[in-house]
This record gives sequence, structure tokens and C-alpha cells, in this order.
Amino acid sequence: MKRVIFDTDIGIDDAMALLFLHYAQGVRIEAITTVSGNASIADTTRNACYVRERFGIDARVFRGASGPVGPALGQGHPDFVHGKNGLGDISFSEPLQGAELQSAAEAIVELAEAYPGEITVVAVGRLSNLAKALVLCPRLPELLKEVIVMGGVFMRRGHQGNVSPVAEANMAGDPAAADKVLGSGLSVTVVGLDVTEETIMDEAFVETLQTQAGDAGSFIYDITRFYFDFYEGINDERRCPIHDSSAVAYLLAPQHYEVEVGPTRVVSEGVAMGQTILGLYPERYASDAWQGRPDVRVCTSVDAAAVKTLYLETLALAGK
Ligand code: BDR
Ligand code: CA
Repeated sequence: MKRVIFDTDIGIDDAMALLFLHYAQGVRIEAITTVSGNASIADTTRNACYVRERFGIDARVFRGASGPVGPALGQGHPDFVHGKNGLGDISFSEPLQGAELQSAAEAIVELAEAYPGEITVVAVGRLSNLAKALVLCPRLPELLKEVIVMGGVFMRRGHQGNVSPVAEANMAGDPAAADKVLGSGLSVTVVGLDVTEETIMDEAFVETLQTQAGDAGSFIYDITRFYFDFYEGINDERRCPIHDSSAVAYLLAPQHYEVEVGPTRVVSEGVAMGQTILGLYPERYASDAWQGRPDVRVCTSVDAAAVKTLYLETLALAGK
């Protein structure tokens, strides 16, 4: 059984990823930890509690960082992508149960200590909570099994950033935190735009969910109206990348991904703020910025059809 902490700025694609985890076989969600990003920390925490309650997810929710640990690219929240409430502006009532008193960072440390070598953190927002957890517990790399991060872009096959030519949103939202996590010695796999933008969902995909995945399918259909409107506005097509669920797909089926391995930096200032740079040959560089840094795995290629099938088959369990 995989014990998972889902660390999220729960907006539309995060909610889809949480349902993917919830209905996956052999996964135990130990906690949902929230972070500011797609919406404010108050809204992402409320959204986590709402999705937990609506779908009967047996996991505690811990409120996390309300802002980045260092300078970040941009301000505010992308309500033009995820809606003002972070869930595509669907209406819903306040969840009955709220978050725990403990912070997200404290919860990550406590769970890592309770289950040494067993916990995987699937981090699909800014890495602020993990950076804070590393401060609380510097030996976290010895305690966590692995961290799977949705974030970054490595310019493979022409992929570029989504908040600047070189930066992806989760990395740009807290570059110092991301650079700390990627250099910490945690066992990290990065699932970035190079693969999430190859894994595309369209209206037919969502309609299949709507007919086969019960209330989960209806919910996904409803929250993706706003999301598709946004993508149609920029691309003229009602289709979009499957970002956060790709990190869950890597957890469940890493064989669907090809990885490159090496030390990876996140640029934390200047015009390239948020850029992720894999240094495959540290000893060849004049710069020592990659020297002595631990390796991370970077996903550079994906069997997108297999990932989408896995998502649909897993969510179909919600309709049974
Ligand atoms: C990432 O940014 C957030 O808006 C999404 O939820 C995803 O985690 C994509 O760049
Ligand atoms: Ca996210």
C-alpha cells in the first residue's frame, strides 16, 4: 500500500488529481496539505475540505503556507483559470468539517516520523510546505520515501513555460522553496510541462467521465466548464493539459514515463525566475551551481494514451 500526502493548491486540475488518488487501488491518503496558489490559502483549504466531504475521502486536511518563502514571480491568484473560488465558480455549501490546527509542514514531519521510509508526497502546488518541513526537520530526506512534484519545464520538444517563456507556475510561485526541495537530498521526481502538455484532455474525455464516473464524473464535468472556457480563449479549442493528475499517474504507473537524471536548479531571481534547469554534466560547467547537488529524476517523455486510459479506468470505479 502506498501512503501518500497530497500537497495541493486545490483548484480544478488539483481536484481531478485528488479524485484520481482517492479511487486508485492500493493508495492510502494520509493527509491533504494545502498551499496558496490557484486560490488563497483560505479558499484552497476550504476546497480540500469540500472535496473530502463530498467524496468521503478519509484523510485529515492541514492548512499550509499562505505565501511563498521567498520572492516570487507575479502576485495574486489565477482566478481567470480556476475561477474566483478555485473550483470553476461552481456553487457549493461550506464543508461541515474544517482543517486541523496543526500546520501542513508540521503534519508532513509528523507523518514522515510515524511511517519512516513509507510516505510519498505528491506535491502539485508551490513547494512552500515542503521547504518549511525541511527547516523543521532537516533529516526529512531520510524519512520520506519520495516526493513527486508537478512543476517545471525543461524545454524538451519545444515546451516552454506557462507563466514566462521559461517558468512554470508552481515553480515560479515559490522558486526559493523549489530550489531548496530539489537540492535537499529528498528522492524527487519532477513531472513538468514537457509531459503534462503532451497529455491532453478534451470535452470527449470529460464526457466519458460524466457518463462513467458517477458523482465524481459530474463534479469534474461541472468544474471543467470554466477551465475549458479559459483554454478556448487562448487556444480556440476546448482541450487542455492534464497537469496535476500526471503526478498521480507517475506514482501509480511510473513505467509510462521516461526520465533523465541529474542535479536540478530553480532560478530564484531575475528575468528567468522560476526556470528549472537540469544540469546533466556538472563537471563540465564553468558554473559550480550544479556541483555537489543531489540528482533528481525529471520526466521528459510520456505514454500519454496509457496515462489517460489509467485515469478513465480508475475514475470509472467511482461510478460502480
Ligand atoms: C500547475 O499550476 C497550477 O495552476 C495547476 O494546478 C498546476 O499545478 C500547472 O502549471
Ligand atoms: Ca496545482
